[in-house]
Amino acid sequence: MKVIVTGASGGIGRGIATVLAGSGCAVGVLARSGDKLESLREEISAAGGTCHASAIDLRSEKEAAAGLNALAEALGGVDALINNAGLVILKSALDLEPDEWRAMVETNINGLFYATRAVLPGMIDRGSGHIVNISSISGYFPLGGGSGYAATKYAVTGFSESLFQEVREHGIKVTTVFPGSVDSDSHRHQGDDGSWKVKPEEVGKAILDLLNTDAGNCISRLEIRPLSRPPKP
Ligand SMILES: NC(=O)c1ccc[n+]([C@@H]2O[C@H](COP(=O)([O-])OP(=O)(O)OC[C@H]3O[C@@H](n4cnc5c(N)ncnc54)[C@H](OP(=O)(O)O)[C@@H]3O)[C@@H](O)[C@H]2O)c1
Repeated sequence: MKVIVTGASGGIGRGIATVLAGSGCAVGVLARSGDKLESLREEISAAGGTCHASAIDLRSEKEAAAGLNALAEALGGVDALINNAGLVILKSALDLEPDEWRAMVETNINGLFYATRAVLPGMIDRGSGHIVNISSISGYFPLGGGSGYAATKYAVTGFSESLFQEVREHGIKVTTVFPGSVDSDSHRHQGDDGSWKVKPEEVGKAILDLLNTDAGNCISRLEIRPLSRPPKP
């Protein structure tokens, strides 16, 4: 299977790319940090896997299209796109600067839209494909202290679930993923080592499972949460 993972330079995206490559998928990875992508590419190659990397900023429609197209060409097609890249700024409405609001909208909503549009025509032509959109529990449940972030994730949920209705009859699956607490740098809090959280590789394993469902059905929603609770302060 040929899979593109956005936001794979760290956190959940890196975990997803590593697990998929380890299971035999050829992966295309994308983010802004070229050095981190290169070290991931080397790690996957050293383990005998196939990885192509493209350092681009998804907030630019042109860069997104060029980066996704280059990866699709290098892979020889795209069976699945994992829209994982995201910007997390957890502030209440009055504390969040308009520039920060715009950066989250441009990354979490616009970037995901551009990436999706880059791969959809090829999938429609082939009559198959899978788009996995990483939303959040904050994409259906209010998050006081993070209203701007939640707004972008509600948008991801709305887009993703509506997209499923638009493309299912073309044989294309769309899954919306709702992670709870996952151990990544962007979600590290002072005094919490993150050991109780879901590991990025565990999200990767769950995504591998849903990519491997039979052609006639789609896991359209996936929620993944840790069993443990945060340590008491
Ligand atoms: N961790 C959690 O508990 C949790 C829970 C629910 C949902 N999520 C969602 O899961 C996804 C991954 O989160 P994470 O915790 O792994 O965050 P992370 O560690 O900060 O990783 C975010 C990734 O997105 C990339 N990215 C950010 N802006 C980009 C841009 N403009 N263009 C291209 N790539 C960009 C980053 O790479 P560069 O900086 O190199 O560009 C990085 O690879 C996000 O969508 C987040 O909302 C996370």
